Amino acid sequence: MSGKYQAPKGVSEYFPPNSNIFESIIRKLENISLAANYHLIELPVFEDTELFTRGVGESTDVVTKEMYTFEDRGGRSLTLRPEGTAGVIRAIIEHGLDRGQLPVKLYYHGPFFRAERPQAGRYRQFYQFGIEAVGVDDPLLDCEVIAIANSAFHGLGLRDYELQITSLGDESSRAAHREELLKFLAKINLDEETKSRVAKNPLRIFDDKREEIRAIMQDAPLLADFLSSESAAKFTQLQSALTSLGISYVINPRMVRGLDYYTGTAFEFVHHRLGAQSGIGGGGRYDGLMRSLGGQDLSGIGFGLGLDRIILALQSEGLVDLKNTQSGYLDLFIVPIGESARLRAVTIVDEIRRAGFVADMGYGDRSLKGAMKAADKLAARNVLVLGDSELNSNKAALKRMSDGHEVSVTLDSLVAALKSAL
Ligand code: HAM
Repeated sequence: MSGKYQAPKGVSEYFPPNSNIFESIIRKLENISLAANYHLIELPVFEDTELFTRGVGESTDVVTKEMYTFEDRGGRSLTLRPEGTAGVIRAIIEHGLDRGQLPVKLYYHGPFFRAERPQAGRYRQFYQFGIEAVGVDDPLLDCEVIAIANSAFHGLGLRDYELQITSLGDESSRAAHREELLKFLAKINLDEETKSRVAKNPLRIFDDKREEIRAIMQDAPLLADFLSSESAAKFTQLQSALTSLGISYVINPRMVRGLDYYTGTAFEFVHHRLGAQSGIGGGGRYDGLMRSLGGQDLSGIGFGLGLDRIILALQSEGLVDLKNTQSGYLDLFIVPIGESARLRAVTIVDEIRRAGFVADMGYGDRSLKGAMKAADKLAARNVLVLGDSELNSNKAALKRMSDGHEVSVTLDSLVAALKSAL
């Protein structure tokens, strides 16, 4: 029965058993990141609005249409974070993290907010796991960042996805391309809104969804053909490094990232079974971001992976078995009968939990039948009924639920019995 209140439109929520999958994805990403020497940064979910208008860029939909901006009680303009990179760079500058060993390697995860039109795989509150490596400009580091995302996807079992890469070049590459692109666009009759977007960032036009514009853009000059020799060399090094790790990729010279700060390497992971919202993760290098936010002139690279879409991708590839996720996470369920047994069960459950098992007990005034039903629903692997006779003899039957097999155990040696039973 649904109650009076509903979650706001377009937000994603996770509760058991789905939340177990959610958590295990984060654990996997955390372990892979830690193994590559990235460490956790926990950031505020709201920041000064200007951090995002500056950092993410005024030509983006994210800034112009999708920010949750509000005034706090002191009249300051704050915005719920639409992405993580700007906040990470702000924190690095503010706390001087870039004064030590470089690159600074950080990972983060949590909710992000964009006021988009909700649809499957596109939410207004969604979850990302991201990493950033700041302070060293090296294609091998670009490769590391991409490889971390790839090994997480692969480790989760995903196969039906593709890594797309491109290079957005350095300033001179982009200036040369911009000139040619603007010449090309000058010949086309564009509406005012598009014109002003193009003036802020001409590359945005490659992302235009309208058929007529897409058709015109087939003949547009591509940035890939204007790379400076240095940018081209870096892009080649990245490709060699990816190949040496056995990571396959396709080059997509028309890729447009949704945020303005990208330079050099940019990449996206596209899943083939997700329909319109197919990007399960993306990122790239950002040369000017730290300087534009008032810090040193350091380059960085990172990614953001969409946890909601990763779950959808896992489901689409048949890799989420909710029954399996649910079963097996309760090692022991104790059914106490009578007040003394209830008290004893409290200490037994405590001991079992300390030994590293997952244990629970029947609370409240339940019949034996009701408690056994609960144990069954919880998919407990073992059940122990505790009544007066068990307390008197200090022995009870440990029942394995998969086949009903019972062993008699003394109450003081339950931990050892569980160890051999599981
Ligand atoms: P992004 O491409 O805007 O990059 O987002 C990264 C990922 O977040 C997307 O690939 C997608 O999986 C997920 N995502 C984005 N918007 C939504 C949404 N409305 N609903 C569900 N999932 C969504 C960034 O945010 C950059 N900060 C990544 C980065 C880090 N670049 C460098 N460092």
